[in-house]
Amino acid sequence: MSHFSYHDGDLFAEKTPLSDIARQFGTPTYVYSKAALLENFSAYNDACKRHSSNENSSLVCYSVKSNSNLAVLNLLARAGSGFDIVSGGELLRVIAAGGDPRKVIFSGVGKSRDEMRLALQHDILCFNVESIPELHRLNDVAGALGKRAAVSLRVNPNVDAKTHPYISTGLKENKFGVAYEDALLAYRTAADLPHLDVVGIDCHIGSQLLDDAPLLEALDKVIELVDQLDSEGISLHHLDIGGGIGITYDDETPVAVGDYLGRLFARINAWRNEKYQGAPIKVLFEPGRSIVGNAGILLTEVQYLKHGASKNFAVVDAAMNDLMRPAMYQAWHGVQPVAQRGSPAQTYDVVGPVCESGDWLARSRSLAIEADDLLAIMSAGAYGMTMASNYNTRGRAAEIMVDGDRMHLVRRREQAADLFALESIPD
Ligand code: LLP
Repeated sequence: MSHFSYHDGDLFAEKTPLSDIARQFGTPTYVYSKAALLENFSAYNDACKRHSSNENSSLVCYSVKSNSNLAVLNLLARAGSGFDIVSGGELLRVIAAGGDPRKVIFSGVGKSRDEMRLALQHDILCFNVESIPELHRLNDVAGALGKRAAVSLRVNPNVDAKTHPYISTGLKENKFGVAYEDALLAYRTAADLPHLDVVGIDCHIGSQLLDDAPLLEALDKVIELVDQLDSEGISLHHLDIGGGIGITYDDETPVAVGDYLGRLFARINAWRNEKYQGAPIKVLFEPGRSIVGNAGILLTEVQYLKHGASKNFAVVDAAMNDLMRPAMYQAWHGVQPVAQRGSPAQTYDVVGPVCESGDWLARSRSLAIEADDLLAIMSAGAYGMTMASNYNTRGRAAEIMVDGDRMHLVRRREQAADLFALESIPD
């Protein structure tokens, strides 16, 4: 069920009219539904509890990069989530939000020494290591601190995720992970390094996947490797199949999270029963978009309607710096007027004020709107605010979390002075 819906012609977030939010906090503003976030998280967590043998044998590690607002992280931490991070900054966010560092896994191809030190000092659950040089660096950093680093290797299973090339990560030509053919060598290297504990294996093949077949194919390849490693005496405690499940932006019908997890656990449990006398292996997930994507919208106000020679433009106060996805991936986001009008619709490109032709949010949409109307750019909860920039010295949007009929300002709007506060002019 969507938590953004019309009541008597007005669009609401849960029980809060979006027009009230615009009146009180201005636009552009990201609006998140607390109920939607919890519901989406529960789809994973409940399925994990249903299918895994005990509650410690699975962990959902929400992917912080999709939406890193402290209120979002805090809500998920309280619901029991772990976190998938890709920088030291994300780790500090998780901690500031009250998340447990011992439920944090650290992914990414370019971890610096400082980031490794920080993560080791906070005793994170595991490093998802992406190359042999990274293994050596992590071993050195852990040794210097007198610690041992728990390590999982990100294996690139060479599976086609059938998604946008920019968000496909599991193919040979992608920069991510250790090539499948090199994985055994990488594991042997890791096992020989004195300050590393080899604990797991992971993969992440891409994002906005509608079908779970590529994920199950990747799982089969991971299982094969776990068996080979086991026969060499390297036995793993967890496997992490990444994130990637897609959401409905337009008319896509992504696999239901519960169905996907049902198939995945059936495969894993059958394998454990057949080869390991039922001994469990902990299963980790790294979902982002499927938890937060449809739990958020971007609220914007129409500034001008421009009726050009060949096109009509609705110039709004949100832009590519607020929501980069259309400019970067030609991504499609729904556009809904906050107040439904009876007047005839016209076809518009919805564009922002930034000085780039790429600054558009939606193209060729039939909308019954007037200047000063409010619009909701839908499905903007994931990779919206986290990819926002200050291009054109535009302050980043405010963020609101709605809980029923209550609205909480969870990030204030940036002011121009915030944007140059870190700069200085030489004497
Ligand atoms: N784990 C790793 C290692 C990842 O790289 C990602 C996303 C995730 C988990 C979460 O994937 P999700 O469940 O959200 O699909 N900016 C792009 C998406 C980039 C995804 C990057 N990696 C977009 O706006 O579509």
